[in-house]
Amino acid sequence: MQTTLTLERASFTLKRFPIRRNEPLQAWDAADQLVLNHLADQIDCSELRVLIINDQFGALSVCLSKTQVSMLSDSYIAQQATLANLALNNLTPVKMINSTEQLSGQYDLVIIKVQKSLAQLEDQLHKLRQHLHSDSQIIGCAMVKMIHTSTLSLFEKIIGPTKTSLAKKKARLIFSRYDSELSVVANPYPQSYLLEQSGLQILNHANVFSRAKLDIGCRYFIEHLPSSKEAIDIIDLGCGNGIVGIIAAQRNPQAQIHFYDESHMAVASAKFNYQQAFTNKCQATFQVTDCLGDREKASADLILNNPPFHQQNAIGDFIAWQMFSQSFQVLKTQGELWVIGNRHLDYQNKLKKIFGNVQQVVSNKKFVILKSIKE
Ligand SMILES: C[S@@+](CC[C@H](N)C(=O)[O-])C[C@H]1O[C@@H](n2cnc3c(N)ncnc32)[C@H](O)[C@@H]1O
Repeated sequence: MQTTLTLERASFTLKRFPIRRNEPLQAWDAADQLVLNHLADQIDCSELRVLIINDQFGALSVCLSKTQVSMLSDSYIAQQATLANLALNNLTPVKMINSTEQLSGQYDLVIIKVQKSLAQLEDQLHKLRQHLHSDSQIIGCAMVKMIHTSTLSLFEKIIGPTKTSLAKKKARLIFSRYDSELSVVANPYPQSYLLEQSGLQILNHANVFSRAKLDIGCRYFIEHLPSSKEAIDIIDLGCGNGIVGIIAAQRNPQAQIHFYDESHMAVASAKFNYQQAFTNKCQATFQVTDCLGDREKASADLILNNPPFHQQNAIGDFIAWQMFSQSFQVLKTQGELWVIGNRHLDYQNKLKKIFGNVQQVVSNKKFVILKSIKE
C-alpha cells in the first residue's frame, strides 16, 4: 500500500495505526488531499492559529505541522497515529487536545474532518463556536458519502452561512463563515437515559456507542453476566458508557473493575456513571488506550467484551482479533473471557483458535454469548 503522500511542494510518509502486516489501506483519503491542496493554493497558514479536528492518522497535522497547529480528537488511536507519523517525518509533535478537554483562545483556521457521527459533529461545532472570531475560516472536508443535508444544516445552525465546493475524486469541502449574531440553541450533549434494570441514569458524551438508548446486545449481555467469588480483577474491554462493568461490579461486589476504551468520551462517561452508581466505593480504574494497552500479563480473572465492528472508518474483524489475543495474554490461568456478538460474526472460531476452547453460555435469535478459559 502506498505510504508517500505527495503534495505540490513536499512529500510525507504516512502509516495507519496500529501497524498491520500487509495493510491494505492507506493513511489518508481524497478529502485530506483536497483540503491540503486548497490550503496550498489559497491560504497562507504560516501566521495562523490552526485547529485540526478528527485527523484520522495525522495526514493533516503532519502536512501543516510547521504552523501553530493543535489537533482535537476523541480517538486515542488517531492521536497515537498522528504522533507516530510526525516522528516518522522528523517533525515536532503538535499540541494534542482530547475531546473531553476545553479549547482555549481563538482559532484563525479550523479544519474539520467530518466523521459519520452527526452527534459528535454537533457537539464539536458547539464547543468550537466559543473559539472563533469574525475572520476565522472554518473548512470541513470529507468523502461525498459522508456529507448530507443534515451535515450542512449543522454548520448553518451552529456556525453560520455554509457552502460546499465541487466534488473531486469523490471528496468535497465545506466552507462555513462564523456569524456572531446567529441565535444558537444550547449544546444537547452529554445526554442521559434511564437504565431500567438498575434505576441508574446513564450519562453519554456525544461520541459514545449507543448514546441514546441501551444497545440490545449490551442488554442481553448484562442479563447474563457471571457472578463469582474468585473474580478479583474484572476488565470491561471497550467499555463505552461502562454499563457492562457497572453491572459486573454489582454482581461481584468484592471485585475491582478496570474500564478500557480508545474513546476519551467513552471512558469519561464510564467514570461518571461508575461514580454515580457507587458513591462510597472507589474500586475501579479507567484507561483510554488501544485495547488493553500495556496492561500486565496474567493480571485479570475475568474480561467482558462487546467488540466493535469498526475503528474510525475501517470496518472489519481485526479489532476483535486484537482484543481476544490481548485478553489471552492478560488473563490469569483459569481466567475467563466473555464475549457477546451477533450470531453471524463467528467469534466462536477466533476464540477457539486463540484459547483452544470456547463454550456457548447462552444464545437467542440474534446474539450469542461465548466464554473461553485460559488453560
Ligand atoms: C460495541 S461497543 C461496546 C460498548 C459497551 N461495552 C456496550 O456494550 O454497550 C465497542 C467499544 O469498543 C471501543 N473500541 C473500539 N476500538 C477500540 C480499541 N482499539 N481499544 C479499546 N476500545 C476500543 C469503542 O469506542 C466502543 O466503545
